[in-house]
Amino acid sequence: RAPRDLFATEGRTNSKGFDLSDEATLAEIDAARNVPLPEAGPITLRPATGTTCDVVNPATGEVVSTVLEADEATALCAIEDATTWDAPVSERAQVLRRAADLYEANAGLIFATLAREAGKTLADCVGELREAVDFLRYYAGQAEMRGDRMDARGIFTAISPWNFPLAIFSGQIGAALAVGNGVIAKPAEATPVIASIAVSLLHEAGVPKAALQLITGLGSTVGRTLTSDARVGGVVFTGSTATAQSIRRAMATHMDPGAPLIAETGGLNAMLVDSTALPEQAVRDIVASAFQSAGQRCSALRCLYVQEDIAPHFIDMLKGAMDELCIGNPWALTTDVGPVINQAAYDSINAYIAANEAKGALLHRVDAPTSGLFVAPTLLKVSGIADLEREIFGPVLHVATFKAHELNKVIADVNARGFGLTFGLHTRIDTRVQEIADGIHVGNLYVNRNQIGAIVGSQPFGGEGLSGTGPKAGGPSYLTRFIKPQAAPEAG
Ligand code: NAD
Ligand code: ALA
Repeated sequence: RAPRDLFATEGRTNSKGFDLSDEATLAEIDAARNVPLPEAGPITLRPATGTTCDVVNPATGEVVSTVLEADEATALCAIEDATTWDAPVSERAQVLRRAADLYEANAGLIFATLAREAGKTLADCVGELREAVDFLRYYAGQAEMRGDRMDARGIFTAISPWNFPLAIFSGQIGAALAVGNGVIAKPAEATPVIASIAVSLLHEAGVPKAALQLITGLGSTVGRTLTSDARVGGVVFTGSTATAQSIRRAMATHMDPGAPLIAETGGLNAMLVDSTALPEQAVRDIVASAFQSAGQRCSALRCLYVQEDIAPHFIDMLKGAMDELCIGNPWALTTDVGPVINQAAYDSINAYIAANEAKGALLHRVDAPTSGLFVAPTLLKVSGIADLEREIFGPVLHVATFKAHELNKVIADVNARGFGLTFGLHTRIDTRVQEIADGIHVGNLYVNRNQIGAIVGSQPFGGEGLSGTGPKAGGPSYLTRFIKPQAAPEAG
């Protein structure tokens, strides 16, 4: 059986502060237990119009706030009013660092919002805040290194998902602003409160209001408007592959052909465990990769390949480790797995599990609370990644076996799916690491560790193929797509 601290967060950061073993952090979390969440809505230069909706806690069904979902007229006004941020780079960097400090100073409110609005466990709340401040500080430093000779592209639309509603949201905005663009940010429908808090803190830090506006609302309405307007100079998007494809089509029709789409999208991620792997370590890393964040990570492990010789014993160990998972109230320190984001996700993941159970593919399922949107972590048997219909964005792990001589076939099968985000490898054979690194088409290959939780600055994150356009977030080349290419003077 795996140890209790399955999802320990220590040592996973290059930013200061926030550790769940730290007493000051625990006191701050305790104080935030009942803090009321602010109302969410557009933050624009002109008054916004739209429809007011409830924001619901996925763990309890309780209404935790309300949001004004903007209409298209409001989105069009935001485009009209938007300006670039024409301050010296040193000033922009200083403001972004001040915003990171303000995020940290408001950790209690941020944790409470992430837990109640997005159902994040406390460990995930800590990881998310760390990543958000890392992004702001990292892009501030990267912009300073480039200096004042960069030309901003203009106004960027930044469209983000609900599963990292602070980190990815802030990373997109931070990168675009660091090099002097203006930004109109459109967060996911499910997580407008954390977005409103973040934009308020960025403004408080000194980002000009015309250089950063927030449009809360539907992707199909305001998201579409903000990605179909010739006045927008580029789009930075994180979300599903299908939405990225739809945005690309809209941009092609309405926007300048040179306007970049920086898209980070879905994954069908695999891990391979051979007979030389250390089983206890591999099991622990598999459980974290597949079930942390209730499997709601683009990087999460979806299809595990175990070498046939060790499979029976290894899969028994994996089932035992799954039984150790604590599923329930995200605000409890002991919780490993919280709820999925909404009723539609809950119904669709459970329908998928039920269909597989009916086919005889169910290998194991853990008990989960029956009230609240808790999907039981589940293990399904498949013959290979080709059997996976699509990305199931929840705590469902598929497992297949392979024979020692089939390694190249596994790699070919994974590549054939066309996604290319993360791949995990557990082996003690050095030459195998290189062989797989050469053959697998992914953005992030993790060896003898879990395959989630890339760290800004040291593990630039992003995929290829159906998983994204690059450049990798949190890496040195990310800012290049947010600026105009420069002419290089050539001596005659
Ligand atoms: P989604 O594609 O449904 O929504 C993402 C965002 O796009 C939301 O803000 C949504 O409102 C907006 N949107 C929807 N339709 C739009 C349209 N027509 N025009 C403009 N905007 C539109 O994705 P999601 O369900 O929020 O997030 C889960 C997905 O995101 C998964 O596929 C996951 O793998 C992926 N993801 C990828 C990464 C990465 O870094 N590669 C990180 C996190 C999540
Ligand atoms: N950057 C996130 C991870 O690595 C998606 O898990």
